[in-house]
Amino acid sequence: MFGFKKRAKRVLDKNNIPKHVAIIMDGNGRWAKKRGLPRSVGHSMGAKNLENIVDFAGNMGVKYLTVYAFSTENWKRPKEEVDALMKLLKDYLLDFDNLLGKKDARLRVFGHREELSDEINELIDICEEKSKHKTGISINIALNYGGRLEICQAVKKIAQNVKDGNVNVEDIDEKMISDNLYTYDVPDPDLIIRPSGEYRLSNFLLWQCAYSEFWYSDIFWPDFTTKKFEDAIIDYQLRNRRFGGV
Ligand code: IPE
Ligand code: IPE
Ligand code: MG
Repeated sequence: MFGFKKRAKRVLDKNNIPKHVAIIMDGNGRWAKKRGLPRSVGHSMGAKNLENIVDFAGNMGVKYLTVYAFSTENWKRPKEEVDALMKLLKDYLLDFDNLLGKKDARLRVFGHREELSDEINELIDICEEKSKHKTGISINIALNYGGRLEICQAVKKIAQNVKDGNVNVEDIDEKMISDNLYTYDVPDPDLIIRPSGEYRLSNFLLWQCAYSEFWYSDIFWPDFTTKKFEDAIIDYQLRNRRFGGV
């Protein structure tokens, strides 16, 4: 009537929630720098933010949330920063009963465990064991995770099976590779979110991302609100996933 169209309201479709959302929790350091604070404060605020996002994702009906917490390349950082990150992780694992333990959420860690300290490895085992019967959301922490290392290890396992005469080379297929990844029982991510203004995967879920939808934002991870998360999901719902078809 007035010559302009009213913009359609963006609403979340509760019947089309991505089953598996993966987040590259990036930008903690720059968040802190902007405020003249040490990087470790950025990491603590980032971890705090994850608590909100976990609740929101669980309530929305996301079944798997995989978050990139520490890459195989992050050991290159100053020892002080790595130590602060490991301490933060340890504190969260120690507080598991008060945090994730109270929710219908399962905790799993995806990554190369050998480089982690015995203490952290023990705590991870305890938390995974305590929550393995939970049927709500699965929170997968990618810790000392590298997509290339994950694929290398799958290749090694399969090669060993061939050597031992348990597998024929002709039988190696995509499913066998998937079955030998950390995510063997988790569907591929539907949506991968990267805040902080970077447009790269940084070695995250390289095999699994074949048909994932990507969503980027300039916001640093500690400022990534549940509203932004909802925005990402609405955008995802507006995409046309074709998987190579028409
Ligand atoms: C992500 O934030 C956390 C980890 C990689 C452990 P960064 O520490 O990478 O923050 P920026 O990218 O330097 O801002
Ligand atoms: C990716 O972020 C790893 C995590 C968020 C844990 P980085 O900050 O390490 O990635 P690059 O170095 O910018 O690619
Ligand atoms: Mg970064």
